[in-house]
Amino acid sequence: MKLSEAQLAQFDRDGYLFFPSLFSPEEVKVLTDAVPALYAQRRPENVREKTGDAVRTNFAAHLYSAPFARLARHPRMVKPIEQVFDEKLYMHQFKINGKMAFDGDVWQWHQDYGTWKNDDAMPEARAMNVAIFLDEVNEFNGPLMFIPGSHKLGVLEAGHDTTTTSYPLWTINHETIAKLVARGGIVAPKGPAGSMILFHGCLVHASTSNLSPWNRVSVYLSLCAVSNHIRRFKRPGYIAHRDFTPIECLPDDCLLKEYDVALPWKGGTPAEELQGLKEAA
Ligand code: SIN
Ligand code: MN
Repeated sequence: MKLSEAQLAQFDRDGYLFFPSLFSPEEVKVLTDAVPALYAQRRPENVREKTGDAVRTNFAAHLYSAPFARLARHPRMVKPIEQVFDEKLYMHQFKINGKMAFDGDVWQWHQDYGTWKNDDAMPEARAMNVAIFLDEVNEFNGPLMFIPGSHKLGVLEAGHDTTTTSYPLWTINHETIAKLVARGGIVAPKGPAGSMILFHGCLVHASTSNLSPWNRVSVYLSLCAVSNHIRRFKRPGYIAHRDFTPIECLPDDCLLKEYDVALPWKGGTPAEELQGLKEAA
């Protein structure tokens, strides 16, 4: 899949691109079928909502689940990002966010590159965020919201929010958000399972809680240009990866055929990946 000049211009202007139904229902099913067993595991990669046992985020499934390992190498997702950065990529972060029916909590307004810069010492915003919907996303189940054009402002001042939800985040204050929205408005791409969004690391985004009876499971991946790899290993390795090996794509049918993939964390998370390190190795 190659982005057109018009798509590249749109990405530059708005900070995101939306691809409804990019993956077929058969392809999505291979992924959704694997989620309950992943969420049932008691391992540090499963961060649960602060109100109970529902999984908010599962980290690094591409290292211990074959379907997600194949998704991490999917050319429909990887090739357009290689095109934008004109470079090979590695996986900086891999999440399956639950946002479960009734239990899914908010994600406050933030930019991802703020965290990558402050915590991980990533040199530039040369990493792309990807959202792949495993459930339909509608106006009721907590769709991701963007402020179009906000990526042009670079890294905005943020405060470290460790109390609102079960996952700490560098969030942007409400006064700044009001100003940004007055200028750019808010959009919330909605669509069937199998849809994909690419969005800039500096694009300001958030999502509300899910009070609907419908889960909103989505995969969020962050792919970084290899030369732009992180320089600090302050966060655990399962949250901010330390393996900068370039991603080699599988064929386009890789969700439907069982191509061989390495699953190095299948037996458990390596001890050295469980904590932050003082220095990069
Ligand atoms: C994120 O910003 O990483 C996740 C947002 C969401 O799941 O809605
Ligand atoms: Mn984010």
